[in-house]
Amino acid sequence: MNPTWVTSLPAGTESGQYLTLDLGGTNLRVCRVDLHGSDREYDVIRTEHRIPEDLKSSTAERLWKFIASCLRQFFDQHSISVQAAQEIPLAFTFSYPVTQHSLSHGILQRWTKGFNISGVEGRDVVKDLGEALDKEVRAQRKSSSIHAGSIIVVQGLPLRIVALVNDTVGTLMASAYVDTKTQIGSIYGTGSNAAYMERCDQIPKMKTSGLYGDALMAINCEYGAFDNSERVLPFTRYDVEIDQSSPRPGQQRYEKLVAGLYLGEMMRLILADLYDRHKIFQGRNGSGLKQPYVLDSCSLANIENDQTRSLTSIRNMLQETFNITSDFSESYFCRCVARLISRRSVRLYACGIAALLKKRGMQHCHVAVDGSVFSKYPRFPDRVMEALKEVLGLPEEGDDHIRLVPAVDGSSVGAAVIAAVAMAREEGCPGL
Ligand code: GLC
Repeated sequence: MNPTWVTSLPAGTESGQYLTLDLGGTNLRVCRVDLHGSDREYDVIRTEHRIPEDLKSSTAERLWKFIASCLRQFFDQHSISVQAAQEIPLAFTFSYPVTQHSLSHGILQRWTKGFNISGVEGRDVVKDLGEALDKEVRAQRKSSSIHAGSIIVVQGLPLRIVALVNDTVGTLMASAYVDTKTQIGSIYGTGSNAAYMERCDQIPKMKTSGLYGDALMAINCEYGAFDNSERVLPFTRYDVEIDQSSPRPGQQRYEKLVAGLYLGEMMRLILADLYDRHKIFQGRNGSGLKQPYVLDSCSLANIENDQTRSLTSIRNMLQETFNITSDFSESYFCRCVARLISRRSVRLYACGIAALLKKRGMQHCHVAVDGSVFSKYPRFPDRVMEALKEVLGLPEEGDDHIRLVPAVDGSSVGAAVIAAVAMAREEGCPGL
């Protein structure tokens, strides 16, 4: 449960132009966000880069260099012109657990979602990113091959990182900017987590902060780490295997049951186990089943979605991914397993949201959800809602006081809103 130093939901009148960098589990997004300052409107220009697989287990130097060069490309592509005197505020969405003593600093506690980059844990990621951006500018200045259009090179890049933001908090703020009923921001994608606003007198970590008891603070729950001590959740042997073979065994135990990164791998482990026990794909070469993480959550969604009479897509998928020919009953079995895996994921995901609703006694609100599992899986929003109603004891039909809503434009807009509030505060602007 990490205090984030975001102390209010947006007013909807925040304005200005911001750059945002968003390092998630799969992509790096670079955006320019224009908050119009009225009618809760904004514009976004965005580019997305897939994070190379080998970068995820490389070094800090490579990570920061990658981010800095994506930012430079963004400037080049969009011919963003910067006057040397004009400082551009940048908000950095960094979707990993950090300890923050202020909005614009944060020490990475530990990598999650399969990342294992050396030289970042225990360090201030804002400082290290800032230094990398500085280096990039200086290196580019020296290079003679730079074309004249790269304003970033010609005039330098007076960037200032004004906020470090978790994706859940970004999601909460972005959605609250356009929808005042939003009280929770959540991610259900490669990882899974949520953020909400808490009273400071309910936050033991804020005891000595000097903030008043009824002042609010956004909490990044980091509840992917729930039950690392294995006291509550029923772990299967496949969960244990996923945990043990991950770069951080014993960490993120709840997340490893719920999040998209692990759903396909769960399916692969089950099939590989049954193959080894001669229960499935008998007489065929099962070596393709031995390759970790070949099956992603998208393929799992496709398996579940196959409504064809002869289950053609499942058969094709098994062939392409594992190089295995399957008959009808095996394909049917795979679809049943895929449904079990996603059903467990949905129901456990709903528990996290239910816990927050109960903790704050929220009975009428919107929960903004972002992430590929939520948006790509068939009927996921309905299925989560169904589970949520069951946990909270709400009537199955006719009660829509709590609604799960797809998040607005991801966390970039939220990060910009947070930057806007922070800057307005710095300038002593009342009311923000
Ligand atoms: C992981 C990260 C967390 C992030 C979540 C969703 O749980 O630790 O910070 O919010 O993934 O991306």
